Amino acid sequence: MRCAAVLGAARAASSAPLFWARLLGMARRTMATSPLCVPPPQGLLRPLAVPERLLLGPGPSNVPPRILAAGSQQLLGHMHPEVLQVMDEIKAGIQYAFQTQNRLTLAISGTGHCAMEAALLNLLEHGDTALVAVNGIWGQRAADITRRLGANVHELLKPPGEYFTPWDIEEGLARHKPSVFFITHGESSTGVLQPLEGLGELCHRHGCLLLVDAVASLGGAPIFMDQQEIDVLYSGSQKVLNAPPGSAPISFSEGAREKMMRRKTKPLSFYLDVGWLGNYWGCDGEPRRYHHTAPINSFFSLREGLAMLAELGLESSWERHQANCAKLCQGLRDLGLELFVKEEKARLPTVTTVRVPEGYNWKEIVAFLMDNHAIEIAGGLGASVGQVLRIGLMGCNSTSSNVDRVLSALRDALRCCQRSRL
Ligand SMILES: *Cc1c(COP(=O)(O)O)cnc(C)c1O
Ligand SMILES: *[C@@H]1O[C@H](CO)[C@@H](O)[C@H](O)[C@H]1NC(C)=O
Repeated sequence: MRCAAVLGAARAASSAPLFWARLLGMARRTMATSPLCVPPPQGLLRPLAVPERLLLGPGPSNVPPRILAAGSQQLLGHMHPEVLQVMDEIKAGIQYAFQTQNRLTLAISGTGHCAMEAALLNLLEHGDTALVAVNGIWGQRAADITRRLGANVHELLKPPGEYFTPWDIEEGLARHKPSVFFITHGESSTGVLQPLEGLGELCHRHGCLLLVDAVASLGGAPIFMDQQEIDVLYSGSQKVLNAPPGSAPISFSEGAREKMMRRKTKPLSFYLDVGWLGNYWGCDGEPRRYHHTAPINSFFSLREGLAMLAELGLESSWERHQANCAKLCQGLRDLGLELFVKEEKARLPTVTTVRVPEGYNWKEIVAFLMDNHAIEIAGGLGASVGQVLRIGLMGCNSTSSNVDRVLSALRDALRCCQRSRL
């Protein structure tokens, strides 16, 4: 009786004929004896609708047709030789993108956050000491994850919009004697590019491993994992690599591997245990064993994203992001806007932050671009909320014509969204 009442309510709420045909068909078949109290959801009986938008926020970026096509291929088994070969190609692509020869290089089945968790929970165990550089939301999140692991966490703080100098870091290392130091290369919540020169050597001199988040910067700003002596480096798929979110490159140095071998306890996650993952990815020379069913189509897409980066060449990719970011910054200044990051060399080439101009509400500007130009840009995140707008130019969307499009949309917004005087 109760089920009939639910169906009655659904009838009253709906006028979609397709919905009705299906629902009544189902109801007729099962009403008399049906144990179902929840009717088929109306939304699912309509076709999927995905509008076209230009994604110029801090991620995700648009996916080009080649990568979309790769992701819609038919499935193969996760242990089929063709899939293992794709995984080997991904590994080589990550080694190229990271500029590393590390054997323990693979893609985590998850987004950038998942790689962040994988890095921290494999490196750290209960009672370890970690130092986390916090100048935006990513350091905050790394500190949060690290605390959940039961490690002793110290934070090195800088205001949003600034980066850390080697002196800041050396002081923190000397004072807290951490075994792991976390820092964000491309701080996408504030638009800051962190210089990495000399940090690996500095950490190692203090008996500490260097862990770097390059989710927003990989492919957009130079990074040399081996030369810069970075111990753990991770990224994501949905930013410069232009692949859908869901698989995340990561690599561990020999030093990181040694620390992980000395662990007294197992990593807190089975799913993200790099011992298992390294085996599945063919990094340990042992026969590959089933660990979890890989997101195979996500790997196909990531492979194509890495292939496009390899074809373009890292240096061309860095130059392109640099040039389009410089053009965007000039255009924003010409509109009378103020860039959030003062020092030119500290600006992240993939995500530009600009102050919300006086007399405007950031939400109105963001909504105006979406409603009138089908362009996504974003407001701030964490400490930068309300202060900035964030404009991302990543991978195939880092083009001169997209700079023109977003600037002209912003000009339009500045004309239309100014608040009336109070
Ligand atoms: C986007 C981003 C992440 C998180 O990646 P998700 O794919 O959203 O999980 C982590 N770090 C930085 C610097 C990012 O820009
Ligand atoms: C990137 O930008 C171009 C416009 O220059 C746009 O047409 C396209 O949809 C965006 N995405 C891709 C994948 O190219």
